[in-house]
Order: sequence, then C-alpha cells, then structure tokens
Amino acid sequence: MPTASAIINLDIEGPTISRHLYGHFAEHLGRCVYGGFWVGEDSPVPNEGGIRLDVVEALRALDIPNLRWPGGCFADEYHWKDGIGPRGQRPRMVNTHWGDVEENNHFGTHEFMALCELLGAEPYISGNVGSGTVREMSEWVEYLTRDGDSPMVRLRKANGREEPWRVRFWGIGNETWGCGGNMRAEYSADLARQYATYCRDHGGNELYRIASGASDDDYRWTETLMRQISCFGCEATPKTFFQGVSVHCYTLAGPWEAKGSATDFTTDDHYRTMLSARRVDRILTGHSTVMDVYDPRRTVGLVLDEWGTWWDVEPGTDPGFLFQQNTMRDALVASTHFDVFHRHAARLHMANIAQTVNVLQAMLLTDGDALVLTPTYHVFEMNKGHQDATSLPVHPRTGSARRRVGDAELETVSVSASVKDGHLLVSVSNLDAEEPAEVALDLRGGTIGEPYARLLTADRLQAHNTPRAPAAVAPRPFEGLAVTGRGLALTLPPHSFVTVRAPMALTD
Ligand code: AHR
Repeated sequence: MPTASAIINLDIEGPTISRHLYGHFAEHLGRCVYGGFWVGEDSPVPNEGGIRLDVVEALRALDIPNLRWPGGCFADEYHWKDGIGPRGQRPRMVNTHWGDVEENNHFGTHEFMALCELLGAEPYISGNVGSGTVREMSEWVEYLTRDGDSPMVRLRKANGREEPWRVRFWGIGNETWGCGGNMRAEYSADLARQYATYCRDHGGNELYRIASGASDDDYRWTETLMRQISCFGCEATPKTFFQGVSVHCYTLAGPWEAKGSATDFTTDDHYRTMLSARRVDRILTGHSTVMDVYDPRRTVGLVLDEWGTWWDVEPGTDPGFLFQQNTMRDALVASTHFDVFHRHAARLHMANIAQTVNVLQAMLLTDGDALVLTPTYHVFEMNKGHQDATSLPVHPRTGSARRRVGDAELETVSVSASVKDGHLLVSVSNLDAEEPAEVALDLRGGTIGEPYARLLTADRLQAHNTPRAPAAVAPRPFEGLAVTGRGLALTLPPHSFVTVRAPMALTD
C-alpha cells in the first residue's frame, strides 16, 4: 500500500488563513444568476424578494465569506445604471460573451447586495474597464458607499436604500489581457492606476482595489503591475494604488480544445487532472516571488479570483452556459487547492472558485425547483474550520505515495493543517485512483484529545450527485483513524478526502 508521512508542528504558528480564501463567484453566465441565485418574486420556487431560499440556506452552511459579481467577462460589458430602478423599466442588453442571450437586468446592484446580506457574505464587485468609463466606475462606488448628500446618494435613496452599504472589495477590470479589452500589460497597468485613483474611499469605507492580473504563469504581467504599484506623490503617507493583484488559473485534463467530459473520464485523465491542479502551487509561488521584489513586506495581496475545473458542457446544454457535472475528481481538485492556499496564506489574500451555482466547478446544481449539493460543496463544508485559522507547517517526509504521469511525478497524498479556538484541523487527500494510502502524521510540540474524522469518497471516481441520487457522494464518519504515540495514523481509501478535528494543547 502506498505510504506517506509528514511532521506537523503544532507549536509553530504560520500565517492566518484568511476566510476569503474560501470565496465565491457569481457571473451573469448561463444559469448561475438567473435560475441559480435569482428566480424572481413571482416564481413558485420559494424565494425572498426573488432570491432562491434553498440556495441561500445551502450556502450559509458553508460560511461563504465573499461573493464576486457580476463577472468575469460579463463585468466588462455591464453598465450598472441599467440594473437599478423599477425592474420593468430597466434597459435590456445582449450578453455577447455567454450564449448571446438577452439580459433583462432584473438582477442588479440592489438585488446583489440583498443576496450578500442573506448569505452573510462580503460583496466583491468587479467593475467595467473594458467598455466602461472611469466616471461610471467612480459613480458606482459613490452610489454604493457614500453617506450624506451627493448626486449618487440621492439616486440610491430614490431607489429605496437610505444607508450606504459597506463594499470593501473592488475589482478594476477582469482579464484585461483577453475578454476585458485585449490590452497589453503596460496599458492595463496604467488604466488600473487611473481607475484606482477615482475609486474613492467614501467615509469609513476603505476600498481594497484589485487590479486585473495575469493568466496562469504570466509572471511578466504581474511584474508590470507591481512595478507601477507605488503612488508617486503620496510619499507623505506611502500607499499603493491597488491593494491586490489578481491571477486566474483553471484546472484541465488536457488542452482547451479537448477538455473532456466531467463524468466520462479515464484513470489517466484523472491523474492528468491532478497534475494540472498541483500546478497552482508553482504558479502562486511564481507570482509571489515577483511580488516580493516590489513589496517585501507583503502588504499587497495576491487574489486568485478564478479557479476550478473546466470540462466540456453537459451534453444537450448550451455551449455558452458552461454547465458541467461535478464528481469525486472535482472534489479532489478542490481539496488539493486548499492545501496549497493554506501554504500561501501570507501572500494569498483571497481566492474565488468559478462558479458557485450551475457554472463550471459549482457548489450547487439546480434543476427547476430541485437543488443538488456537489462533491465540491462537501469539501468546502468539511474544510470551513480552516477559515481565519492559524496555519501550521506541514513537512512531508519521503514515502511511496507517488505515481508517474507521463514525464512527471505526482505525489498522491496532500495534507494541510491549522488551529483555531484550541482545535486542530487536518485535511488529507488521497489522489490515487486505485490504491488506499497509509498516512502517518507526526504531531510535534503539543498533544491532542479525542479526534473526530470525516470521509468523503465514493465507489467510483466518476460518482456524482443528481436530483434522483443526491447523496451518491456525501461525507460520513471516518473509521480508518488511529491515535498513535507520535500522532495520527490514517488509512485512506482510494480517491478520498478526510478531515480530522481534535482539541489541542501545546506542550510546556
Ligand atoms: O468563469 C468563466 C470565465 O472564465 C470568466 O468570465 C472569465 O473571466 C474567465 O475566462
């Protein structure tokens, strides 16, 4: 049986794992917003002011920290003033990126803020740089966050909202190298500075401005942004134009032209997927290394505001709607991403899975009034104790848990750990499709009490949940755990994810 062992130092505090690493993303794309979050007030699906209540309830159980909206590519053709005022009078537009469908603008600023309030999540608004104006973005910030009296405040009040909202996270464009305007890095960096200048902090609402960043390993893009980050002329109170720099990194089993099915895949496809997922570690390290040169104190955050799997759409669905199923393979992509995120917590301020409902690697799939929790949902739920916890260093030792995949080697066991409120939380994944894994965790510098462990697996990697079989993949108590003199010994089934929670005390 493949084996792996690791030392976890209970008494050495790593950086805090921001809860925002468990962030979400909702774009006007396919059935994410319309049919997913929003059904409208007249729908037979139970709703509050048009927002689906089953979706809200399921997401509240994840403690989702933030929600990015309205795109994605859609953000750069969205004009926010079309989405306020009486719904029947809102102008319509064509969603040219996603399915060429008509957008009626019924879900706009007020509806999004109401959704965030129901979810208990912070809003993350992605502003339009590609086809918008500086004035338009500046006024959106004013409309949402300014108190007192001003033209945008009067407009907001006329639309029924007296008090300003708090909106911290603000995206300055999206994928400006592609769908957000096909710009060069230099031009995009200049625009980011210009837009950031006019996105003001109104009253106590301090913005966290996120400049549209690189795709995958385009480190030159990050370098171009970072070179331009300091605000010259602000020497008295040194500050940066933007507080975060984004990067997008999706997981595929092969090239874009041959992404393959979400559910009909081979063991080799699985291993190639796991290799692709592991790449995110290298990519985050690459961007962080560049950022360290310009920002050694690590005040500027790296924001991975799009990540997740991207497969062929489900047969018979609109290719522009990006609707895909979600299996144990997706769950393992999520669990290994979180291990990497925890390791990068000092620089990584936020991460947003694409996307929350009915699009790409979703938490939830809806079909009329039916709602299904995906395997990925369960990973988010099992891991939620890591939010705002202190990361603990995990030092892997040599073992035999590895596989050759083409020219590369894949380590098939992945571990991360944190402590919060006197409790240790350890997450362990076995990526091996065929073999169980024996994992020994040597806990140093402290002791633990009675552990409680949960397991997510299924008879097949391809297993997934549907309205007829909603719990084909669901967590259950894990029996394969023993407390040893040194720490913990686990025997994980093939393709499985385990979390162990235990009270913890440091040794004097
Ligand atoms: O998440 C789907 C799309 O992927 C987003 O709109 C875009 O930013 C990215 O290319």
